[in-house]
Amino acid sequence: MKAQELIDTARTLVAGDKGLLAMDESNPTCNKRFARLGIPQTEEARRAYRELIVTTPGLGECISGAILYDETIRQQKKDGTPFVKVITDAGIIPGIKVDTGEEDMAGHPGEKITGGLDGLRDRLVEYSQMGARFAKWRAVIAIGDGIPSRGCIEANAQALALYAALCQEAGLVPIVEPEVLMDGEHTMERCGEVTEEVLRTVFNQLYTQRVMLEGMILKPNMVLPGLTCPEQEVVDEVADATVRCLLRAVPAAVPGIAFLSGGQSGELASARLNAMNVRFKSRLPWALAFSFARAIQQPALEIWHGEEAHVLPAQQALYHRARCNRAARRGAYSATMERV
Ligand code: 13P
Repeated sequence: MKAQELIDTARTLVAGDKGLLAMDESNPTCNKRFARLGIPQTEEARRAYRELIVTTPGLGECISGAILYDETIRQQKKDGTPFVKVITDAGIIPGIKVDTGEEDMAGHPGEKITGGLDGLRDRLVEYSQMGARFAKWRAVIAIGDGIPSRGCIEANAQALALYAALCQEAGLVPIVEPEVLMDGEHTMERCGEVTEEVLRTVFNQLYTQRVMLEGMILKPNMVLPGLTCPEQEVVDEVADATVRCLLRAVPAAVPGIAFLSGGQSGELASARLNAMNVRFKSRLPWALAFSFARAIQQPALEIWHGEEAHVLPAQQALYHRARCNRAARRGAYSATMERV
């Protein structure tokens, strides 16, 4: 029965034209983004910001699941309503980030390994009791001189697979997120090679650890040129390279692929997802969806700026980006949507 529940939840997360909203920034990451805008880095400011997000009118039209952080899943609206209830009432499935972030990897200068396996079984039980139906774990892979190493790829892939197996044991759908970072001068071709190697290794490990592919979601990066690479491919080339890589490495049993945005602008992330769905949707074994944090939240955060008086326009900006990405899932997004 648990298997069927996992399959149903995974399918619901990527059904129709909805996608995921990542609002699981750890306190240090959230504080860093607040500091850049001069917003106080307090628990109350983080709570107020998350209240703004979860109470955005119409959010459930575009968002199937919201990924929360440990602090956030325990918080409430000012009137005392738990965020988990607000989300669930909006028809959105609550999820939770369960890794504890990346650490320097011993013997591997410049590379990271994600932590959080210790005590994970017990934490998953607690989150499930709090209403979470899925979980997320992010591994980061950097491209640079001589990196990524096999050691880094294999260790992160194994941690992802061990996490995913524990999630399924607890009845939570694992969102498996191996992120190849955009930072650097590398070409799109190099990103494609690294992403393919990482995904093949991750799926080998998922198989070895007996993870049921029908009951998980993959959250990968798009195949992109490095941020400082002089050659920046056009939208259709990115769409082609990304889908080619995924077709080689992601088994058809996986119900959905929900991209991270990774530092792309909101407009580019929507345009690239749209192009993939326009060009390939009818020929793909899995749904191509989104699980964006910055590409949905950034404009709203900048408008809000910590000011109560800016909540409504910030919510409108958040809804707008969510709606653009919903359109991108159908291949119905266009730049004219940005002009309203
Ligand atoms: P971005 O969309 O901002 O990359 O965040 C997605 C995410 O969940 C990072 O772990």
